[in-house]
Amino acid sequence: MSAALESSAALYQRVKRVIPPFEWPVFAGDIAAILQLKQERRAVVLAHNYQTPEIFNCVADIAGDSLALAREAMHVDADVIVLAGVHFMAETAKLLNPGRTVLIPDPQAGCSLAESITARDVRLLRERYPGVPVVTYVNTSAAVKAESDICCTSGNARRIVESLGVPRVIMIPDEFLARNVARETGVEIITWAGHCEVHERFTASQIRTLRRENPGVVVLAHPECPPDVVAEADFAGSTAMMSDFVDTRAPARVLLITECSMSDNIAVRHPGIEFVRPCNLCPHMKRITLTNIRTALEEMRHEVSIDPAIAARARAAVERMLAVR
Ligand code: 13P
Ligand code: SF4
Repeated sequence: MSAALESSAALYQRVKRVIPPFEWPVFAGDIAAILQLKQERRAVVLAHNYQTPEIFNCVADIAGDSLALAREAMHVDADVIVLAGVHFMAETAKLLNPGRTVLIPDPQAGCSLAESITARDVRLLRERYPGVPVVTYVNTSAAVKAESDICCTSGNARRIVESLGVPRVIMIPDEFLARNVARETGVEIITWAGHCEVHERFTASQIRTLRRENPGVVVLAHPECPPDVVAEADFAGSTAMMSDFVDTRAPARVLLITECSMSDNIAVRHPGIEFVRPCNLCPHMKRITLTNIRTALEEMRHEVSIDPAIAARARAAVERMLAVR
């Protein structure tokens, strides 16, 4: 057995439910190298809940939803942050902790929501609806955040909208998240036609079929799903809220209406729970691999930088969000 394989044997015990033994030798060398490089570079890996199990469980120092990653990034005192997630998450980390070197292993890891809107679009919306506050989902570029009053995530969207205490807000760019929040709050919400390419594919009839095929299944949905899908679910919340739900309520059978890797990552710590798995993958999240995390640390690439002309205004919108409790 090679040294890398031997030292990673204990790690394999963590993930053996979701990674077959024949795949493990492919990962073991990269994992050992990343653990070593993290020490040499004084680096930490922040990983989103949609990262694959070998990243999430074996090299991440901090894992969570967008809100948790933003909060944690602010307090990192290591020299380097490697963001195992998509580009807007790396930008948010850089905004909140500008003194650190922030690396994204693949700069092409985007997001269909972030792609759907530009800073100019936001300025035009403001002209059209003067005085209406702009609440911007964190799944956007720093340039779009800079044009906004306040940001939100799927974990705090309702709280952020209610905190404004106004009858009408502009909420961009996720139309479905906005409609889901409008239904919960009674606030009138002007939406934008952006959609998550992963969550828009789920349908209400698919959930009804899966319920019939899997009696007793508890259905948890992400609020980026269409409102009729959320209405079919037993609970809707951010990726961290879904994960907490499973941890605390331990349903015998669960269906997560979200990206595919979530079920794997939760299943690792819940061997007794049956996960029903319709598998929708996020092609952007899946651009991040152990190999490109390793290369990022070896070559100190790809460094995230934000135009100073927009950074301060974008940071202010994110910080206003973090100040709402
Ligand atoms: P969370 O903030 O719930 O983790 O969601 C981020 C995301 O991109 C969901 O598609
Ligand atoms: Fe964007 Fe959807 Fe992928 Fe999340 S799952 S990063 S919202 S495309």
